[in-house]
Amino acid sequence: MIEAQPHSATTPRVAAFDTWIRGRFIELNTELEAVYATQENRANVAGVGDELKTALHDEGRALIIPLIEEGNTDEGFDRAFELLGNVGYYMAACRRHEITEPSRERSSPLVEASTLALHLGASVGTAPRFVTSHMETYNRAVNGMYRTFTAGPAEKTFIDYNTRSAFAYMRAADALGRIHPMGISHPAAHDLLVAARDALADALRLNTELGEILDVDDFFFSVRPYYKPYRVGSQEYRGANAGDFAAFNQIDLLLGLCSPTDPSYTQIVVEKIPYLTPDEQRQLHHAFRHPNLLDSLLGQSESRDEPWFQENAATFLEVCEMHGSVAAHHHDELVARFIQHPAERIPPEHLEGLTASGPPLDVLLHALEALRDRRLAADRDDIPTRRDDLATLRSMLRNR
Ligand code: HEM
Repeated sequence: MIEAQPHSATTPRVAAFDTWIRGRFIELNTELEAVYATQENRANVAGVGDELKTALHDEGRALIIPLIEEGNTDEGFDRAFELLGNVGYYMAACRRHEITEPSRERSSPLVEASTLALHLGASVGTAPRFVTSHMETYNRAVNGMYRTFTAGPAEKTFIDYNTRSAFAYMRAADALGRIHPMGISHPAAHDLLVAARDALADALRLNTELGEILDVDDFFFSVRPYYKPYRVGSQEYRGANAGDFAAFNQIDLLLGLCSPTDPSYTQIVVEKIPYLTPDEQRQLHHAFRHPNLLDSLLGQSESRDEPWFQENAATFLEVCEMHGSVAAHHHDELVARFIQHPAERIPPEHLEGLTASGPPLDVLLHALEALRDRRLAADRDDIPTRRDDLATLRSMLRNR
């Protein structure tokens, strides 16, 4: 096995911790997962593999203490964010193995890890825990291997596909975000709409493949539990979820399928801001300031017979349909098969902390369903959707 090489501009203490996270840490988690999997109730963690858990806790702590002594060596955002990810991986693994348990404690027993995480979180401008970007877009690979919790194939499959799909969403958001400064009637707008539609089609293809190859039980019992909420110091921070990027909401808002004045939608978006990198946070703020494309097209209906209107309105509707299709697949296939159905099979006491954001599963499913229906512009009278406006736009097309 090739030993992971630390980042070039880093201190020996940071490098020692990184080497441990990329090696021994993965071995310990993988061994613990193997022990849990031999039980009749695979969800049970209490009193199992205690020696391995002690090793995980003590070895990580011994490497973290010198990092607090070293203090902030100010080596830039990337290094500080990567170190926050490493401390976060350690704290999330301790939570997964119930070395810590937020409902049992008022403050994290991982005092040194909390100290370091709070310092790093404050200096980089994100929540002081590991966030989705640590697993995906900021997860530095060394000789093809990025940081994981376990060596299990399900975790790698999940992260590989999530990362690629997140980038597809980002391509779509980038294309849509470039339209408003020049206007939807600009000759280049059509290319951007096509790029957004095709990027969303990539996301649908990747998410579909993920659903086909990911092992349901391995994901549910040995991957998802690392994404639970945990305490840093006295405060509990919600877990990581694949939606913690600006792109999904940029697309919602730029298309006009979701509205910044819909309080239940905006509340969901505002909640996620601390879990984004500062760069992503800025992009999300911009999306709230820009006009949306659906209003823009409807506002120019006097041009309905112009070739640009016919072409761009038709492609805009295809982008909306594709966005709705990926959202429907996420909810009806991924969430249903990989979370909802396995949750029905385990004892109720193990359902606690099942969701990344913390609410009980039925509450979360309800909220996710409402997001799906906004993106589908579905016929709902309890939440605002753009169903009628899309129908009006469609009625203006000559080749419907
Ligand atoms: C097995 C695969 C997946 C499962 C089981 C799954 C499940 C979930 C769950 C349960 C949530 C809610 C998290 C919470 O608040 O607790 C969520 C949120 C989210 N996920 Fe996934 N997810 C999967 C893959 C993906 C992928 C590949 C993407 C796209 C890159 C994605 C995009 C999102 C988004 C955008 C949200 C935030 C809510 C929203 O805006 O719709 N997910 N997912």
